[in-house]
Amino acid sequence: MISLSVISTEHRGIWRLTTALDSMNKSMQENGSYAAIPVVILILDYLSDYIDKMHHPKEDAFLFRFLRLRAPDALADIEKLEADHDAGPHHLSALRALALSVTNSNTKSQKAFHDKLISFIGTLRTHMQFEETTVMPLARKVLTKEDWQEIDAAFLNNDDPLFGTNARAEFAALRAQITLFAPEPVGLGGSFTTEMLSHISKKTVAPANTPAPAALDISGLTSHYGRIQALHGINMQVEEGQLVALVGANGAGKTTLLRAISGVQAVSGGIICLHGANITKMNPDKRVRAGICQVPEGRQVFGPMSIEDNLRLGAFTRPKADLDEDIEKMYGLFPILKEKRHLPAGTLSGGQQQMLAMARALMGRPKLLLLDEPGMGLSPLLVQEIFRIISNLKKQGMTILLVEQNAHAALSIADKGYVIETGTITLSGTGQELLNNERVRHAYLGM
Ligand SMILES: Nc1ncnc2c1ncn2[C@@H]1O[C@H](COP(=O)(O)OP(=O)(O)O)[C@@H](O)[C@H]1O
Ligand SMILES: [Mg+2]
Repeated sequence: MISLSVISTEHRGIWRLTTALDSMNKSMQENGSYAAIPVVILILDYLSDYIDKMHHPKEDAFLFRFLRLRAPDALADIEKLEADHDAGPHHLSALRALALSVTNSNTKSQKAFHDKLISFIGTLRTHMQFEETTVMPLARKVLTKEDWQEIDAAFLNNDDPLFGTNARAEFAALRAQITLFAPEPVGLGGSFTTEMLSHISKKTVAPANTPAPAALDISGLTSHYGRIQALHGINMQVEEGQLVALVGANGAGKTTLLRAISGVQAVSGGIICLHGANITKMNPDKRVRAGICQVPEGRQVFGPMSIEDNLRLGAFTRPKADLDEDIEKMYGLFPILKEKRHLPAGTLSGGQQQMLAMARALMGRPKLLLLDEPGMGLSPLLVQEIFRIISNLKKQGMTILLVEQNAHAALSIADKGYVIETGTITLSGTGQELLNNERVRHAYLGM
């Protein structure tokens, strides 16, 4: 039964972290200072890795598995605990997103963060208490000697990639880092200064062997117009620095998907994560601040305003001081815009308006650029020019999701492509694979 004491030790560690969170939460509420937010995020990330990758899998795969066999009467309880385990990552990523946005936002979202943190701490504690007071005594009573042998052997297996020696060392290192930064009064030892916090990079807490989260990770996304379902469970990943093409016929749902990513189209199910943070419920202007920028279909530049003013408008989230330099960069990318800088945008041709719309989006220094049919309505020569510029942006490291009916142009420059048909992804592969695919050739390339 040594496995039970392993679980209890882990519970005590997790409990201490909830105490730290609780105490930081109170002091943030009392003094209105959010300087400790980076520590909160560090703890959340640690909990997320530790609980979801190490603590829960052991309980699920061994303790709960045997309990299901030996204590059928307790099935409902076990299932409730397993459901808690499944829901954990969602709560943590929602909480993390709230914590990230709390420092520069209004009292309403600050309250949302505090409330969510309190309820998270409460849920986690109730869960652990129930395991300690009900599940573990039950396990002691009903599991056989052979069961315990198997469970204990698994728990003590030092080679296990999830909870063996290496994993434990990794978590110990992460925990030491938190202890180092956590404020003294919260009971984790250590103390922090703002200077120290500036050294916490977002990635410090990811264990060395876990890949960085995708720039954009969409799973099971659905969306409706009234009773009509336009997206049926879309799954899609765009890695940092990738150019991904989404091709499909008119009415397939491409624009709906981009608008859902930007937050202007309501979603009815599924999850959208930006660099690992769940943004499914985040409002659109926060998403812009988080680096998502969409160039809408049909360009939509502000016709009566000058080209240069249109560009300034694209940078509304940024300090005014460094705008001129960026405007010069855009003129370097799109020389025609410089020539006409003082003219109303409405006087530009279709292709030039497309360039202005892209330049305006780039002024916001997006982390993820969403392009909706940039080639639409343009002459073949201009399409080529626009796609050459998109290719260049990719070479400069920009992450891009490109939506196109012009499948050939898009797939030719894409790292990866998805085909969407009536709201469902029906094919995916590298740009080249899709270009060579029989169905794609037939349906989209007219071959
Ligand atoms: N505002 C709307 N109200 C109702 N249905 C809509 C609306 N916009 C789009 N749709 C429907 O949703 C589906 C997907 O449209 P859309 O995302 O614009 O496709 P795409 O961009 O691939 O051409 C289509 O069937 C379309 O008729
Ligand atoms: Mg569209």
